[in-house]
Amino acid sequence: MLKKVWEPVEINGLKIKNRIGLPSLVNMPGGEDGFISDQTIRWFECRAQGGAGLIMTGAVVVTPPDEAALARRRSMGFNKWVGVTDDKYIPGWKRLVDAMHRHGAKLGVQTVALGPQSGLAPSLPPYPDEKHHKLSTHEYNRTLPPVKEVTTEEVEKHIQDTVDVAVRLKKAGVDIFELHLAHGGANLYSAWLSPMYNRRTDKHGGSWANRLRMPCETIARVRQAVGKSYPILVRIGSDELMGNYGITLEDTCKILVPALEDAGVDCFDVSQGSIMHSPEGIVIPMYYPRGIFIHHAEAVKKATKKPVIGVGRIVDMRMAEKFLEEGKADIIFMGRQLVADPDTPRKWLENRPEDVRGCIGCLAGCGRPCPVNYDIQDEPVPFTPVKNPKKVLVIGGGVGGMEAARIASMRGHKVTLWEKEPELGGMVGALAKTKLTSEFQNFLDYLGVQMRKLNVDVRVCKEATPAAVEALKPDAVIVATGSSMIVPDIAKGKADVMDHIEACKNQRAIGQRVVIWGLVAAELAISLAEAGKDVTMIGRGGDETLARDYPGPRRWYVQRKLLDINTVRELPWQKLVSNPKVMFHTDVKEIASGAVITTDNDGKQLTIPYDTLIVSRERGSNNAVYEALKDKAPEVYNIGDSAKVGEIKDAVWAANEIARKL
Ligand SMILES: Cc1cc2nc3c(=O)[nH]c(=O)nc-3n(C[C@H](O)[C@H](O)[C@H](O)COP(=O)(O)O)c2cc1C
Repeated sequence: MLKKVWEPVEINGLKIKNRIGLPSLVNMPGGEDGFISDQTIRWFECRAQGGAGLIMTGAVVVTPPDEAALARRRSMGFNKWVGVTDDKYIPGWKRLVDAMHRHGAKLGVQTVALGPQSGLAPSLPPYPDEKHHKLSTHEYNRTLPPVKEVTTEEVEKHIQDTVDVAVRLKKAGVDIFELHLAHGGANLYSAWLSPMYNRRTDKHGGSWANRLRMPCETIARVRQAVGKSYPILVRIGSDELMGNYGITLEDTCKILVPALEDAGVDCFDVSQGSIMHSPEGIVIPMYYPRGIFIHHAEAVKKATKKPVIGVGRIVDMRMAEKFLEEGKADIIFMGRQLVADPDTPRKWLENRPEDVRGCIGCLAGCGRPCPVNYDIQDEPVPFTPVKNPKKVLVIGGGVGGMEAARIASMRGHKVTLWEKEPELGGMVGALAKTKLTSEFQNFLDYLGVQMRKLNVDVRVCKEATPAAVEALKPDAVIVATGSSMIVPDIAKGKADVMDHIEACKNQRAIGQRVVIWGLVAAELAISLAEAGKDVTMIGRGGDETLARDYPGPRRWYVQRKLLDINTVRELPWQKLVSNPKVMFHTDVKEIASGAVITTDNDGKQLTIPYDTLIVSRERGSNNAVYEALKDKAPEVYNIGDSAKVGEIKDAVWAANEIARKL
């Protein structure tokens, strides 16, 4: 079925067994003091074993850390990391290389010099257009250290550090060296190239030729040090998605790629975006179409004869195949997909693509942790087959319940699953019916298939009464009955009022004028507005509370779309919209027939008419079933939202922790 993805490919003579790779993910597990740990090996080995031909590490820093840098790292929660600045790290790297080679994969290491985000920049702020900093002011500045400008003399030190690291990596047997030149303020080299960050007046600033001087000299010196036949990659930010304030695709194809190729680069790993301005180019939220940026790789391919890597929300091997077939790239990187399911390539090779667990694009961890992949963590509860199978009843067919049923059944237990609704999926299933969160369906599809393949006895429209449970006589019961929206008394029972979940499930019943009470449901609000409804969100909080609990790039997307902040707006998805309209600092006083009566901070009263009022505020645990059943079987557990309202990860991980110990 797939052909092109399995074809070997060469980078400067290095043969890679297929065309699927793992891109750099900085949150790979490290070890104490930078030594590669067993967890590091295990994390990467899973991905190599899963069939990817090329495995890249996340960015490793070439500058030996001083005490201040170490303290900053610790304060950001990185007390474990992957070091490369001393020969003492070589044995660890050798172990990692061996682990990759055991599975026929090649290992590339992405190297990075600390940049503006870590306190070092080509020029001091403020950068040319302050308005492009609004998003970063909103989100980032509180964690940014003061920035120091790199002196002309220090440039040499950065180059030498990088060369030393390249030599060390080669000595350790690493197959590929990569220099990170992408993502704006994320690192020194990309900031150096960026017209936004680099406003130097010495030989390193101003023109493209000057801005290219340090990166090109670094590549040339690495080439000299590692020899002709050692593969050198660069990750480029092909388009910083900031118009003329950043690097454009045209600049990349006309200037950047030819210059880097002349300097000695063997392969272009094509990313985009700028970490503090257009992060959605880097970690693309699930709202964007899959494979949205592949035209960047395609354009770079036209500018060079060297192999080109395409990346960006490619979660389906068929899409990878298509892009390769169409000549848009020579290799496809799948990042979050190989986090969610490291065995994706292998499952295709074994002709069982239905077993692939698709990434849902939620951005809640992406490696450390991943909500749909419990095994990603350092020390998961081991998975072992059972000697004495039990009769297990799972109550609730949401993601927590299905995951518990999957694990218990795979271990050998005899599992029955009861769901009171006519279909499985629970709250995640409802959210998956909303356009912006429709990628959640990937996980449901996977779990649904597994229920069938594992012969879990699934019963829908089945109420878990104590009598029914006692009649089944299970040895163990896992309750996963989820949570419900709490509807305030003033809205209860009123006509045309729904809670968020009902609204997702029954979108056809939603009228033209929609009021959403609460500032959480931004994804639903945008989805309904995009479907042509007139939507108003109201909430008591200020603009900082809008989608407050969403993971970073999802929150930035929503804020950019709904708040009048001055920020990059180059892509259609970045445009400010007037629908939905958001009213902050607004209190709901009364729900009249077809209208919400509100007051603002100054006590001013406003009547907002609606055809449908959707309540999306707090959720409460549905724990009544657990309370009724807790002494009705030898073992009874309560997991996920019905135990404590949380995220997808909490339910899925709790399911694993219980089902692996049964
Ligand atoms: C958690 C996380 C960490 C990342 N770390 C790096 C990094 O260290 N260096 C880099 O160049 N890109 C980094 N990226 C970007 C990825 O390499 C990749 O380009 C991006 O995730 C898009 O691919 P995907 O949609 O297949 O995940 C990171 C992305 C994520 C989600």
